[in-house]
Amino acid sequence: MAKDEIILTLACIKGGIIMASDNLVLGVLGTGHFASYIIKALRNGGYQGRIILSPRNRQYAENLRDQQGCEIAASNQAVVGGADIVVLSVRPDFLGDVLEGLSFSDDQVVLSALAGVSLTQLRAHSNLPQQIIRIMPSSFIEAGDAVFPMHPAHELIELLFAQAGSVVVFEQEADFERSVVMACAYGWVYELMGSMTDWFTEQGWSDEVARDMVVRHVRGATTFALANPQQRLSDIADSIALEGTFTKLGLDELKQQDAFTTWRRALQKVEDEL
Ligand SMILES: NC(=O)c1ccc[n+]([C@@H]2O[C@H](COP(=O)([O-])OP(=O)(O)OC[C@H]3O[C@@H](n4cnc5c(N)ncnc54)[C@H](OP(=O)(O)O)[C@@H]3O)[C@@H](O)[C@H]2O)c1
Repeated sequence: MAKDEIILTLACIKGGIIMASDNLVLGVLGTGHFASYIIKALRNGGYQGRIILSPRNRQYAENLRDQQGCEIAASNQAVVGGADIVVLSVRPDFLGDVLEGLSFSDDQVVLSALAGVSLTQLRAHSNLPQQIIRIMPSSFIEAGDAVFPMHPAHELIELLFAQAGSVVVFEQEADFERSVVMACAYGWVYELMGSMTDWFTEQGWSDEVARDMVVRHVRGATTFALANPQQRLSDIADSIALEGTFTKLGLDELKQQDAFTTWRRALQKVEDEL
C-alpha cells in the first residue's frame, strides 16, 4: 500500500473499536533524546495526533511542544491517563522509579524503548498493561527513511509506524534483542566516517569537502546495496576489489590487520552484555 494511502485510510482495530490513527493519543514517559527523535519521525511521517509529554526534563519537553506540536502534562500520571499508547523511554535504571504509583488501563499499549530490558522484566511491573511492545529505532529516523524494529507483532503499532517508515517485526525476542546490537553498530559508523574524514583533512582536503565526500560515498554504498538486495554485500566488495586494483590493496591490508574481526568482536561484546 502506498504511504499516502496508509495515511488516508489508516484505521486501526483497538479493543474491537476502529480508530483513525490521528485519533490515537501518544503519551511519553522519558522526554529525552529517544523521545525527541521518535516524535520527529512520526510527525515527519504525517502523524498529526496529540502527543502528551512527561513534564520532567523541561527543556526537551518545551522544545518538543514548540517545534512538534506536543503538550506537556502536569504529571506522569496525567500522561498515562490521557494516552492510548504510552512510550516508555527512560533509561533502564529509572524504570522502577517512573512506574512507581502509576495506574494504566487494560486497553492501553506500552511501547518500551529500554535497551536490554526483556518483556519478562517489564511484566514484573504488575501495574503495566498486558500489551507491551519493545521497539528499537535509531536516531537517524528523524531524518527520514526510518526503520522500526519491534517485538512482538502488533497491528495497531505496525500501522502507526508504517506511516513513518519500514517496520521490522521480530517474532522471537532473542532476534529482536540483536536490534540493540545493530543500534550500537549504527553509532560506530559515525566514528568510522569521522576517522576517514580526519585522514583526508590531514592530507589537505578541507573539513567540509572531506566530510561531504565521506558521507556521500557511504550513502552511495548503502543506496547501491539497497537497490541490489539479491547480491551478498561481500560479493559487491569483491566485484570492486578486483585483483591488481588499489581497492584490493587497501582491503587486503584491512583484512590482514583483522579490522573486520575486531568489528565483529565489538558486536559480540555488546550481545554478550545484553
Ligand atoms: N538514545 C538512543 O539512541 C536510544 C536508542 C534506542 C533505545 N534507547 C533507549 O531509550 C531510553 C532513553 O534513552 P535516551 O538516550 O533518550 O536517554 P535520555 O536522553 O537521558 O532521556 C531519558 C529521559 O527520561 C527522564 N526521566 C528519568 N526519570 C524519569 C521519571 N521518573 N519520570 C519522567 N521522566 C524521567 C530523564 O529526565 P532527567 O534528565 O531529568 O533525568 C530524561 O529526560 C533508554 O532506555 C535507552 O535504552 C535510546
